[in-house]
Amino acid sequence: MSKLSPDRLLGERAAMVDVSGIRRAFQRGATLDNPINLSIGQPDFPVPDAIKAAAIKAIDEDCNGYTLTHGHASMLEATRRHLHEDVGWAFEDSTDLIITSGTSGALQLAFMAVMNNADEVIVPDPYFVIYPNLGPMFGGRTVLCNTSPTFRMTADIVEPLMTDRTRMVLVNSPANPTGVVLTQDEVDDLYDLCTSRGVLLVCDEIYDLFTFPDALEQGLFPSPARRGQDMLLIRGLGKAYGCTGWRLGYAAGPKWLIAEMAKFQQYTYVCAPSIAQVAGAAAFEVDMSEAVANYAARRDLVFSELSPVTEVVRAGGAFYNWVKVPEHLGCTAAQFTERAVERNVLVIPGEVFSTVDTHFRLSYACCETDLRKGLAILKDMMAQD
Ligand SMILES: Cc1ncc(COP(=O)(O)O)c(C=O)c1O
Repeated sequence: MSKLSPDRLLGERAAMVDVSGIRRAFQRGATLDNPINLSIGQPDFPVPDAIKAAAIKAIDEDCNGYTLTHGHASMLEATRRHLHEDVGWAFEDSTDLIITSGTSGALQLAFMAVMNNADEVIVPDPYFVIYPNLGPMFGGRTVLCNTSPTFRMTADIVEPLMTDRTRMVLVNSPANPTGVVLTQDEVDDLYDLCTSRGVLLVCDEIYDLFTFPDALEQGLFPSPARRGQDMLLIRGLGKAYGCTGWRLGYAAGPKWLIAEMAKFQQYTYVCAPSIAQVAGAAAFEVDMSEAVANYAARRDLVFSELSPVTEVVRAGGAFYNWVKVPEHLGCTAAQFTERAVERNVLVIPGEVFSTVDTHFRLSYACCETDLRKGLAILKDMMAQD
């Protein structure tokens, strides 16, 4: 009989973090034989050959050890160049950059550096699953910003939630799970609100590359980073290039903040994976426009198939649609997705991403045949009385 007991050993933090919703969804999926899987949160295309070759070359050339805490010189240089070309940032004076173990790694380092227990962070609802847990995991209290029914986290709904304990506002555009892309005016207003109140605006732009033409403004992806450098900009390469398992992201922002994040990186992740960093430096040069056009076409397909039978949030990016369970069915999203499982289709209920359970997340990062089959089944389920 083991003398180790969870009651005696597990800390309070463990009880504060709940993974039951998403775990239930994945466990349910695992019981199915060859499901039509519209629940996946990663691209269905392989890593482009040029990036694979760069990773293999990095191994062959013995780039297998630790890198500097801030990152490998090649990745730092390529990312700085990319951010300069993309959002006009300069790194000479007060801004710095750190390469992180995925976007999640960057978010965690930011929370470690900024939050005290009574401090507040405002996050959107619906949210990417880790957002509400970052407070309990690293200190601080999560304040949910209910973005329904437009699912746009705009300054006018954020401002009333601000208190003198607000330290950060976490925004995600293009958003998981809704696919919503904020406009340049909307992100500018958030930037102005946060900077005027001395609050750190953290923008998670992991899906920036997957912004569809109709959500671009003058050909550009709307980002608060175009307004100024007084914020924390977090991005990742996993979704953009199909290498989520390589754990590669970055954070750019005020030098004093990046210095603290680097301190915590030194004592936690140590550095982002060396091979991924060297390959990542090559990734910015790779043209992904075909993949983006492909996802835009799938987004349109989902919208045209489902909008006659229910409300579908018009997504501007990422690879998700946020679909309402028709009210006439009289069921929650969890109940609806259970019924979908009985018909071999996997989608994720709103309760996993929100305090309300009215919608489900449909990911079209799957093969088109499956997508069409899945849509036909969902449509059929929605048409029933
Ligand atoms: C909005 C958002 N941010 C961050 C992440 C985590 O990304 P990474 O795999 O780079 O840690 C995800 C992954 O699904 C996401 O959807």
